[in-house]
Amino acid sequence: SSEKPLAGIKTLVTAGPTHEALDPVRYIANHSSGKQGYAIAQTMQQLGADVTLVSGPTQLSPPQGVNVIKITSAEEMLAACQNALPADIAICAAAVADWRIAEQSEQKIKKKNNEEAPTLNFVQNPDILAILSKPGPKRPGLVIGFAAETEQVTENAISKRERKGCDWILANDVSPETGTFGGDENTLFLIDKSGVDQWHKMTKDAAAKKLSKRIADHLTLNV
Ligand code: C5P
Repeated sequence: SSEKPLAGIKTLVTAGPTHEALDPVRYIANHSSGKQGYAIAQTMQQLGADVTLVSGPTQLSPPQGVNVIKITSAEEMLAACQNALPADIAICAAAVADWRIAEQSEQKIKKKNNEEAPTLNFVQNPDILAILSKPGPKRPGLVIGFAAETEQVTENAISKRERKGCDWILANDVSPETGTFGGDENTLFLIDKSGVDQWHKMTKDAAAKKLSKRIADHLTLNV
C-alpha cells in the first residue's frame, strides 16, 4: 500500500560506535551517538520494512518494532550482520572502529613504577560495508554507506563509494563546528552512480524519513 511501501522488505541497519577492548576494563571508542542509524531503522520500520538493527553501545532506547541486536566490537558487528543476511537493503550507519588491539590482554594491564608506558599494537578491523557490498548471491540489492568527512566532503565520498562497492553513500561534514557528531541535525549529500544530491540541513529524524522515502521510490521504480 502507499502507507507501507516497504512491506516485506528485509532491511539491515548498523548504528553506533564499536568498542575495542584493550583489556578486561579498558577500551577504545569514538563519539558516535547512534542517533542517525536508530532514526533510519525507525523510519524504515514505519514504512513497513522488516528491520534488524545491529547496534554498538549507545544511550538510545530501541526503536519500536525493530529487531535490535546489541554488539560491542567490530568483529561482533560483522558476525551479527552476516547472520542477518539475506536482506534486500543494508544501511551501514555505524562508526566502526578502524583498528582493534592486536592482542587483547586477558588481565588488566598494570601500571608499574619506573616502567615505560605500554606500546599498543593495532590491526585493522573488517570493513563491514565493503564486505556487504561484495558481489555475490548474498549481496543485498541496495547497499548504502555513510561517509563522515571533515574536508572535501563530496570528492572524498565519491571515491569512497567506488572503493567500497556500495550503491549509495550519504556524506556529511563532521567538522567540530558543524555539531553533527552527537547533535540532532545533519547536512547530507546523497551520492549514487549518477551524481550528487545535496540535502538541506535537517534533523536526523527528517533525514531518516527522506532517505526511507527515497529508498521506497527507488524500489518502486525498479519493479
Ligand atoms: O571508511 P569509512 O569509515 O569512512 O567509511 C564509512 C562507511 O563505512 C560507513 O558506512 C561505515 O558504517 C562503514 N564502515 C564499516 N566497517 C568499517 C569501517 C566503516 O561498515 N570497518
